[in-house]
Amino acid sequence: MKLTDNTFLVTGGASGLGEATATAIVEGGGRVVIVDLRGSDGESTAKRLGDAATFVPADITDETSLSEALDAAGSHGPLRGAVHCAGRGGDRLRILDRDGNPAPVDSFRNVVEVNLIGTYNLLRLAAARIARNEPVDGERGAIVLTASVAAFDGQIGQTSYTASKAAVHGITLVAARDLASVGIRVNTIAPGLFDTPMLARLRDDIREGLAAGVPFPKRLGLPADYAGMALTLLQNSYANGETIRLDGAIRMAPR
Ligand SMILES: NC(=O)c1ccc[n+]([C@@H]2O[C@H](COP(=O)([O-])OP(=O)(O)OC[C@H]3O[C@@H](n4cnc5c(N)ncnc54)[C@H](O)[C@@H]3O)[C@@H](O)[C@H]2O)c1
Repeated sequence: MKLTDNTFLVTGGASGLGEATATAIVEGGGRVVIVDLRGSDGESTAKRLGDAATFVPADITDETSLSEALDAAGSHGPLRGAVHCAGRGGDRLRILDRDGNPAPVDSFRNVVEVNLIGTYNLLRLAAARIARNEPVDGERGAIVLTASVAAFDGQIGQTSYTASKAAVHGITLVAARDLASVGIRVNTIAPGLFDTPMLARLRDDIREGLAAGVPFPKRLGLPADYAGMALTLLQNSYANGETIRLDGAIRMAPR
């Protein structure tokens, strides 16, 4: 799917990986509708990107507000794709605490609600819009989801986050098979350790230690590294049903 003169929805587009992707789409000649929470930096990001960008506040777990964002995207011309970056970190809770008490289930449920139910909500609502397009070169559009390397090598304390991200990986091939009949491709990026506000909460020495653990290149991933892969997956018409680790070859240790 070409970027030029087409419209794409980017969730989580106010920050980190989503903001870099929205920027790259506009720089590539596309239009972008940024979806993020009310009170996020979405408005200022859209302003920075100029006329080709619009911010529509929405919660990805909420059908009504996400549908309004998709309506707004459709008003700029056919929606040809979505890059789903909105999500939250995990709760870093062990199954049992030091005294042997079980972790609360509410926290697990919230991580799964945002990261997995939110992903499915975006997938189904975006696919319904994209499926109405006339095909271009045989395809109607493309969707990129975001998992994590924690989907494969989750660390101690990451049960909720790993469950949510492993499920995103799991639905990728099913979604690609399912939506093949309407000409929509679905792929997922599983980022390693990226230098975004999500990791900025950690102390500098911890961030440096994380970067040193990446085999090559020995640095944290840059949001632009993610954006480059997202654009490839939108544009390469033979990429489908795949989860791509983007991680400098890191494999996370148990803790
Ligand atoms: N940064 C990393 O190292 C890393 C690694 C692996 C996976 N990821 C995944 O990449 C994605 C983006 O992460 P990031 O590092 O850019 O984080 P970030 O915190 O910089 O950006 C996430 C954005 O999502 C938005 N968001 C959160 N919940 C939302 C909701 N319910 N509805 C709408 N918007 C919501 C936030 O407001 C924020 O702007 C997440 O799914 C994260 O799990 C990040």
